[in-house]
Amino acid sequence: MKSKTRLFGTILLALILSGCSATTNFVTNPGSPITSRESSLYIITLIMAAVVFVIVEGGILIAVTRFRHRKDDASEPAQVHGNVPLEIIWTAIPVVLVIILFIFTINTMNAVAAPDPSSGDLKVNVIGHQWWWEFDYPDLGIVTANEMVIPTGTPVQITLTSVDVIHSFWIPQLAGKTDVIPGQTNHMWISADQPGTYDGQCSEFCGMEHALMRDRVIAVTPANFQAWVKNQQANPPAPQTDLEQQGEKLVTTGVCAACHTINGTSAKGKVGPNLTHLFSRSTFAGASFTVNEANMSAWLTSNTTMKPGNLMSIRVPDSQLEAILAYLKTLK
Ligand code: CUA
Repeated sequence: MKSKTRLFGTILLALILSGCSATTNFVTNPGSPITSRESSLYIITLIMAAVVFVIVEGGILIAVTRFRHRKDDASEPAQVHGNVPLEIIWTAIPVVLVIILFIFTINTMNAVAAPDPSSGDLKVNVIGHQWWWEFDYPDLGIVTANEMVIPTGTPVQITLTSVDVIHSFWIPQLAGKTDVIPGQTNHMWISADQPGTYDGQCSEFCGMEHALMRDRVIAVTPANFQAWVKNQQANPPAPQTDLEQQGEKLVTTGVCAACHTINGTSAKGKVGPNLTHLFSRSTFAGASFTVNEANMSAWLTSNTTMKPGNLMSIRVPDSQLEAILAYLKTLK
């Protein structure tokens, strides 16, 4: 009974693990030229290992069943030692297999190595913060957070730095992870074949809210990317209603402005995410919550409950909440 329970548990665990990351799995779901190559290498290695496993384990099973000790036979089996052709074969086969894997691996490594940084493709600076990501497009004058928008079919040159501790930037379907280290600049590139949203996660333990330091790459068609760039480069529309204007004053002249930047206003803080087009994004706070009025309201009044340890730790008074929310919603 106990062993049946254990077997059932093992099968269940295997099913859960096999399903838990199916959509972000680079092996079954590669989204870029990089992960396509890595996926092929993984599958080649897996097939070679599986063939070796079946042959070796099959041989063991045949040996233990056919040549097992029998009750009515007390005689010793024939004592043999050494067989030169066999020794040569089972030394040569693994050497050949390792050489084949070596060649595939070197080919893959060359293919996924960073493209020439002078090639003029899109450049994005990725800056790790506890616990959110800053995405800075130096050639376009755009600074945003947590969601990197890129055009499909375009290699994106990424430069990675951190303002505090070691993080690691990872979008599983688009590229392997690269550490983001204070005092050091790292480089990588990504590219997306198809439009879509590619979820990622900081993959180096970086403190209390490491788990809520997510990110996403949103790949759009080149035409849609140009439209996005145009919108991001523009200042947000001027607030219209009294409530919105009241909110603007509270945000851009109050405590918010010490940490956040909103282009075209007096808010020029650099500690927190740039809020210029906050409501054009789908997520906030380390891509952990959906951008909508309810979540934003909860964040402004109880962010230390939603994300304990986050550095904002400001509680907006109820008397200001409505105006601030109304203004933030204009930041599109
Ligand atoms: Cu940043 Cu973990």
